[in-house]
Amino acid sequence: MKKIILTGDRPTGRLHLGHYVGSLQNRVKLQNEGDFEEMFIMIADAQALTDNSQHPEKIRENLLEVALDYLSVGLDPNKVTLFVQSEVSALCELTFFYANLVTVARLQRNPTVKNEIQLRNFEANIPVGFFTYPISQTADITAFKANIIPVGEDQLPMIEQAREIVRSFNRIYEPVLVEPNAVLPEHSSALRLPGTDGNAKMSKSLGNCIFLADDTETVRQKVMGMYTDPNHIRIEDKGDTKNNPVFIYLDVLATDEDFKEFLPEYHNLEELKKHYENGGLGDVKIKKFLFQVIERVLIPIRERRKYYETRLDEVYEILKNGSKHASEVANQTLKEVKNAMKINYFEDDSFLKKYEEKYK
Ligand code: TRP
Repeated sequence: MKKIILTGDRPTGRLHLGHYVGSLQNRVKLQNEGDFEEMFIMIADAQALTDNSQHPEKIRENLLEVALDYLSVGLDPNKVTLFVQSEVSALCELTFFYANLVTVARLQRNPTVKNEIQLRNFEANIPVGFFTYPISQTADITAFKANIIPVGEDQLPMIEQAREIVRSFNRIYEPVLVEPNAVLPEHSSALRLPGTDGNAKMSKSLGNCIFLADDTETVRQKVMGMYTDPNHIRIEDKGDTKNNPVFIYLDVLATDEDFKEFLPEYHNLEELKKHYENGGLGDVKIKKFLFQVIERVLIPIRERRKYYETRLDEVYEILKNGSKHASEVANQTLKEVKNAMKINYFEDDSFLKKYEEKYK
């Protein structure tokens, strides 16, 4: 089966380390393995408007920021198509047609929608566009016949709902749509990186992020100020490594090479953890190590970002050309969808003929 990979992000802010370990890293890996027909990465500006209707400027301000983050982590426009959702008008038409295959009750049951309604205090005033965004996301995916959707765990209900819509469509009309599969990141603790403050989620609104675009000094300050085990007060105290974001980050990021280079007294993370758990190891030492590990990850990202920051016209063209290509692909699918639905009156010779026979 030919693989078509698609994923995307809402452009509501710069991307951070949580995005990197949770999905960007994996996207770059998939891109470089090259085992696919096509790979698409969407900046979901229209979806971002569904929960930011009062602050549309936020999305405009972050569109190129997200593109810069994509390019700086190593996504390569020669290998993947980077595009802007709102430029692909076929997505709106598909959404309109798919909406007939979905009930209000089914949308209400979608756990991601439920959760996001609560998070945004939308309970009494749910915007219709927001409520129905799983339908629009199904259009995002099916317009490209994408079968591989690398996403975080929170998106699983979206993919499940997309699969249901695809099955309904294919059953009622013709089997032109492809059922997507979610692909989660390999590293289980990477599913969700906690914030620097110990909150379960790294999130812009909580102010606990390390951004990919942060400079060295900012990263140093953020890491040195990180929440650790609150009961680990003196160096001699036994420490907890499980609910300790410093160790969770190390779990995800630190390699044995990092130990060789930055902390040669230990061979690996196991040794470091044991020492911390048994007492006698201070937080500052571990934070300094974590800072070096994060810098090792961020330095090349920062360098690529600098390159593109001085060539914004190139970034702009990349998005423009990507959007044009994406639109062509989606238009082709839309055509097939309309053919399957038999709403292709002016392309179908038999349409008029049937009427002519009737009135003969
Ligand atoms: N809902 C996704 C998020 O909030 C973004 C997104 C939009 C997406 N369209 C998509 C993800 C299609 C995967 C496939 O992160």
